[in-house]
Amino acid sequence: MPAPSFDDTITALNLEAHRDAWRAYWPALDNLPNPHDSWLFQPGRLDELCAWLGLAPEPAAVLKEGLAAALASPHVRLLLAQAIRTFSMAHVQPPPLPRPPAELGAWAPVFAGLVVLGCVPVTRRRHEARGIPASVTRETFNDVTRWMRTYHEANGRWGFTQSDWLFNHVSTRLVELGRLQFGMHTCTLPYHVFAGKGSENGKVIALATDGQRIRPDGQFLCADRNIDRDGPHAVTRFDLREHAVTGHPVSNACVISQTTVTLPLDRWTRIIEPGTPMLDVHIPGYAPLDDVAVGESFRRAMEFFPRYFPEHRFAGFTCVSWLMDPQLADHLPAESNMVKFLRRFRILPAPGCSDFQHFERVFGGPVKDFASAPRDTTLKKALLEHVEAGGRWRYAAGYILRNDLPV
Ligand SMILES: CC(C)(COP(=O)(O)OP(=O)(O)OC[C@H]1O[C@@H](n2cnc3c(N)ncnc32)[C@H](O)[C@@H]1OP(=O)(O)O)[C@@H](O)C(=O)NCCC(=O)NCCS
Repeated sequence: MPAPSFDDTITALNLEAHRDAWRAYWPALDNLPNPHDSWLFQPGRLDELCAWLGLAPEPAAVLKEGLAAALASPHVRLLLAQAIRTFSMAHVQPPPLPRPPAELGAWAPVFAGLVVLGCVPVTRRRHEARGIPASVTRETFNDVTRWMRTYHEANGRWGFTQSDWLFNHVSTRLVELGRLQFGMHTCTLPYHVFAGKGSENGKVIALATDGQRIRPDGQFLCADRNIDRDGPHAVTRFDLREHAVTGHPVSNACVISQTTVTLPLDRWTRIIEPGTPMLDVHIPGYAPLDDVAVGESFRRAMEFFPRYFPEHRFAGFTCVSWLMDPQLADHLPAESNMVKFLRRFRILPAPGCSDFQHFERVFGGPVKDFASAPRDTTLKKALLEHVEAGGRWRYAAGYILRNDLPV
């Protein structure tokens, strides 16, 4: 029987409102021998994958129930097969997978999880082709289990919504190496970083790119949700000439200077600029950020990427996060994991930074009533007290130079 068309499928599944969004997940059927099929649909495959992931029996059972429901409907089956095909073949991030409407039953909350699991064989092949150990592939997909648990905590039932994030894993752009995840990317931070040589050896200076609007306190004009959007500001200048470069440096206090410095190029070399390959550091939230485990992750990354992705000649590591807010070090003990982690990085103001992530990661979202908000950890107390004292939390951008770490 010929496979139904995209339009038939959307109509049959009553996905009218999402027609345009789903279209991106509909590769041409013309030359496909078995458009309804996917590796995942073969008997026993999902069990195998759940065992491989070490998934607990309950979420594994919900995935199986979701798959059985999807396979029972020819239209859903085709939609799932097409979404898996799109996700596994895409070279650039596809648009967000539309969330299937809940009224479509058991398969809806786990649909995105099934799409990601259906892509595992492709990722395995891609990793194998580079000689990457199977244990790293397995470690990298730990995120499926974690995000299913997070969904369960938030909704009281099992589901998965993080397919966009997991595209990084499927496409092999990101791997998990112990406590941290590392994503290959090119630098988008608005800075040029210069390293000293000769008499300046060991020094590092970041200069803002040209045309940035900076408040008198050295933050971007758009910081803190644009609160000072119409306030006074300076516009940065970055002037690279044959023998010298002039620009606005960032101080150790994470402040962009209103005045410029000039660096002679016989003593300074540019090592990072927008577009430089970097490794982006991500911190899954399942366990303490143990300092020894963090060090081991960086050590593994320094070994892993030159060996398996030699073409990604990264200049260092970046991390854009609330964990990079240098103010945390003023409020948490120096021996805390978070402060030790922060101290590994050189810190820069991040454009558009706000306190959103702080409150999301610590209180689950914005705090409406400070008086009744829990203060049962040092961090919760610090977050509230700093704001009560008139302060503002801001996520920031950290970087570590490749040369800062042992090879
Ligand atoms: C990053 C993370 C693992 C650090 O946790 P940790 O290793 O326990 O951190 P520390 O040991 O430095 O904790 C210092 C204090 O802050 C508290 N704390 C740390 N993270 C906390 C959080 N997310 N919520 C509430 N309190 C937290 C600790 O309990 C401790 O307080 P206490 O001594 O009163 O118990 C944790 O914050 C987390 O899981 N975050 C979610 C993941 C995340 O934010 N990733 C980055 C995304 S951009």
